[in-house]
Amino acid sequence: MAPTTAISSDPGSASSSGIRTAIVPAAGLGTRFLPTTKAVPKELLPVVDTPGIEYVAGEAAEAGAKRLVIVVSPGKDAVARYFEPQPELEETLEQRGKTELLEKVRRAHGLLDVETAIQEEALGLGHAVSCAEPNLTPEDEAVAVLLPDDLVLPTGVLGRMARARARYGGTVLCAFDIPKEEISPYGVFDVADTDDPDVKKVNGMVEKPAPEDAPSTFAAAGRYLLDRAVFDALKRITPGAGGELQLTDAVALLIAEGHPVHVVVHRGGRHDLGNPGGFLRAAVDFALQHPEYGPDLREWLRGRVEE
Ligand code: G1P
Repeated sequence: MAPTTAISSDPGSASSSGIRTAIVPAAGLGTRFLPTTKAVPKELLPVVDTPGIEYVAGEAAEAGAKRLVIVVSPGKDAVARYFEPQPELEETLEQRGKTELLEKVRRAHGLLDVETAIQEEALGLGHAVSCAEPNLTPEDEAVAVLLPDDLVLPTGVLGRMARARARYGGTVLCAFDIPKEEISPYGVFDVADTDDPDVKKVNGMVEKPAPEDAPSTFAAAGRYLLDRAVFDALKRITPGAGGELQLTDAVALLIAEGHPVHVVVHRGGRHDLGNPGGFLRAAVDFALQHPEYGPDLREWLRGRVEE
């Protein structure tokens, strides 16, 4: 994926988005990070010093979400525990005058209210999202879904997606325009233009197509603003790609039934935290921008690469 150089947000991703609840599916076994994930969920692995899931929670909060429902598998409660206050640690840091560290420690639990939903069996992303339905309230007319493997940078795309939903209604997803030969791991959109070059109407969606079958080069990038109707569609889909209940297939079903679906094309960067190679790129990218570690790392990397 494209390297990124900025983690600041684009302005205008307002809390007037209407987004109240965000769902983060985090029930996977993290097999690509074994053996570490025997004991530590991959969502808690640090990108420099902060777990990936805190960036994703921060993005949801920035888009106006007040609640985060993390879907975990049994035994992965460490992910939710990360968002609980640690009064003893905070007191120690306070006594020692470690103000900056204290701020870092407090950030996660100050972002939004976190709760969990349990996915008992790994039946696919669509199934994981449906496990969060009991956590929703009647006011949740739409929910944001953020896949924690995907860092979409700069943040702010959810705000743009909310504006597209305000205009067109229905469901809005985030798309990246990527080379056709790299398209197979993704959900891919069949699109038609609107008057905005970065907003497209979706006429169909297919999960993990072969490059020659891909309807376009616009791929789903792990950010969804789903109309509540998706939960009904999720009950009616059957196992799809990989034998799993796919969120893509629920979206495709909504489209087939005449429900409006659009994508906002994000032309910024992205990191894939879902495999060690992508994770390392993200860590290096973030570390290079870090005031304390960046300058040394840059110099060391230059020398190391030339060796
Ligand atoms: C999931 C979705 C896919 C989407 C991708 C983005 O796939 O099913 O539609 O394009 O995330 O990262 P996964 O990466 O879980 O195989």
